[in-house]
Amino acid sequence: MKWNQRILIKDLPLRVEQEVELQGWVQFTRKSGKVRFIGFRDGSGTIQLVMEKGLTPAPLFELWPNLTQEAAIWVKGTVKASAQGQFEVELWVQDLKVLGSSVNFPITPKEHGADFLLGLRHLWLRSKRQVAIFKVRDQVISAINDFFAQSGFVKMDSPILTTAAGEDPKGLFRVPYFDLGDAFLAQTGQLYLEASIFAHGRVYCFGPTFRAEKSKTRRHLNEFWMLEAEAAFFTHEDNLDLQEDLIHFVLGRVLERCGYHLLTLEREVESLERAMRPFVRLDYDDASKLLGELGEPLAPGDDLGAPHETALGNHFQVPVFVTHYPKAVKAFYMKQDPARPDRVRCADLLAPEGFGEIIGGSEREENLDKLVQAMLDKGLKPEHYDWYLDLRKYGSVVHSGFGIGLERLVAWITGTHHIREAIPFPRMMERITP
Ligand code: 4AD
Ligand code: MG
Repeated sequence: MKWNQRILIKDLPLRVEQEVELQGWVQFTRKSGKVRFIGFRDGSGTIQLVMEKGLTPAPLFELWPNLTQEAAIWVKGTVKASAQGQFEVELWVQDLKVLGSSVNFPITPKEHGADFLLGLRHLWLRSKRQVAIFKVRDQVISAINDFFAQSGFVKMDSPILTTAAGEDPKGLFRVPYFDLGDAFLAQTGQLYLEASIFAHGRVYCFGPTFRAEKSKTRRHLNEFWMLEAEAAFFTHEDNLDLQEDLIHFVLGRVLERCGYHLLTLEREVESLERAMRPFVRLDYDDASKLLGELGEPLAPGDDLGAPHETALGNHFQVPVFVTHYPKAVKAFYMKQDPARPDRVRCADLLAPEGFGEIIGGSEREENLDKLVQAMLDKGLKPEHYDWYLDLRKYGSVVHSGFGIGLERLVAWITGTHHIREAIPFPRMMERITP
């Protein structure tokens, strides 16, 4: 049968009383009196297959010992409305074949440690919770793309192999590059997006991003996916509006389409619904003052750390933009605030419930001299950024942009404590396999 005519589990509620054929994997089996149940997954969904002595052809019961966890099977049966349990429908088996056996699948329904599961990530992905996380991640990605497409943004893919730091130069992965010396894996696509706004006005990129940071926290990966947007004639304030609209759009989509997965994940939906309200906008100074009152003091001029971000999130219970950080703790390209030269027109968006910074963004320094000075102040060599500096010579304009860490966004939305579960195959200091 042609691929697009095959019936999947997700289509079954519209096929009650019809006979269908399905292919997929056994999740569990269970006996109860004369009836036997098989938890069955095909990638599009999960149902129970039902066999009953006297109703199901007798030879099929001989297959029972082979219906082990993760055995692949083909099944034919009749779709019935389900009287009980979490599923709308179930399938009464008429015929069944084992396509691929599975002996002693190592991940059983009992509790396993994180290290054991990460070592078996290639098999762990099949677990119920993991399936739900990646269904949500997929919806988040398509919502982001839809939002930008309908907002007039053009997707401009940025290179992975680059020649200069876009963020902290200490966090670069080096790659030997023919006779041209070392290249670096991209820490950001931003500088290339900045080049692209002069052609398209509003642009975005969405790709893998690399940081050779030696951080072992629940929020850091060494390879993650970043959505970055950049727009000409956008001020700092426009930038915040755009980010807020985007996050609201994504949350709206997930709440509308992912109810079942959020339920599987036991995600408290009220906190996502609360985030549909306007976000808080808080100047760095006001944030410092408030943090003192909340018993999480911030040393003057310091960047916020995880405890500070958590305290602000707990206080407001909705996402918070902290704006106008000290220039010294932020990247070279951020625009100096004309009113306070030691501050930059930037914002980090902090998610509530301890998830912390999910977006970093700013207005960009569009003045050539100030940009060169900022590079020198940070110990960067302007000659490594020749082409980038050209952008300030030919029609430079006010512009702004931001980057969202996809895994941090997905971890927050799905309520996943550690970001390593929000990417299919995490890359961390102590782990590069599977
Ligand atoms: O704040 P960051 O470093 O900003 C940039 O890279 C800018 N060039 C983006 C831009 O303006 N175009 O990173 C942006 C976001 C962070 O807010 C965070 O969500 C995520 O990327 N991020 C990480 N996610 C996982 N692991 C890491 N090590 C991350 N570092 C940053
Ligand atoms: Mg940041």
